[in-house]
Amino acid sequence: MAVALDTSAAAPFKGDLDVAGLEDFLDVRRPPLVLMTLTSNSTGGQPASLENMKAVHRLCAAHGVPLFIDAARFAENAWLARERDPRLASLSPAAVALAFFDLADGCVMSAKKDGLVHMGGFIALRDRAVAERIRRSMVVTEGFPTYGGLAGRDLDAIAIGLTEVLTVAYGGSQVRDLVVYGFMIVILLLRPQGLLGARKADAGRV
Ligand SMILES: Cc1ncc(COP(=O)(O)O)c(C=O)c1O
Repeated sequence: MAVALDTSAAAPFKGDLDVAGLEDFLDVRRPPLVLMTLTSNSTGGQPASLENMKAVHRLCAAHGVPLFIDAARFAENAWLARERDPRLASLSPAAVALAFFDLADGCVMSAKKDGLVHMGGFIALRDRAVAERIRRSMVVTEGFPTYGGLAGRDLDAIAIGLTEVLTVAYGGSQVRDLVVYGFMIVILLLRPQGLLGARKADAGRV
């Protein structure tokens, strides 16, 4: 977006992709995928609108190119889209985020940002066959999925982080800590073995 390069111009969605430019590009090239970064790093962390995401989705579908989201700051994008687009104001941040993800074929996420954790991330895909191909190719770079690159506690932390980021993290709520600690107490009461359960070898001892 040209306006995004003018740092003195005020515009609500400087993270939007240039749809006409993308169309010209897709007319002559066939990339393996289009990656929409929410919020957009290259324009200084600006949000993209749902309307723009819909237009990019239509264009990618028409050209048979998968659309992926770099979701590192997806929640910040959802909170800002909800704040700046009156049509989204009545929706929860989670519902707004879902509206974006509904338009994508998959996402890559560094959870160190909106997962609110120190380490970890994930790739999410709609297509199970592609997921299987990635799992197989990752044997070379990461090892077998059963090696456990991320421990159960780290996956639990990501699950809690994703809940927190969509409920209170960007909301400036005065009850923020109460909500997060309340959530953790509920988990401790209902699933003291952790959200993902115990390892099989330890299950008898829990
Ligand atoms: C939008 C976005 N995607 C991906 C990354 C890469 O994250 P990591 O360093 O965890 O691989 C970053 C890092 O800041 C980011 O801002």
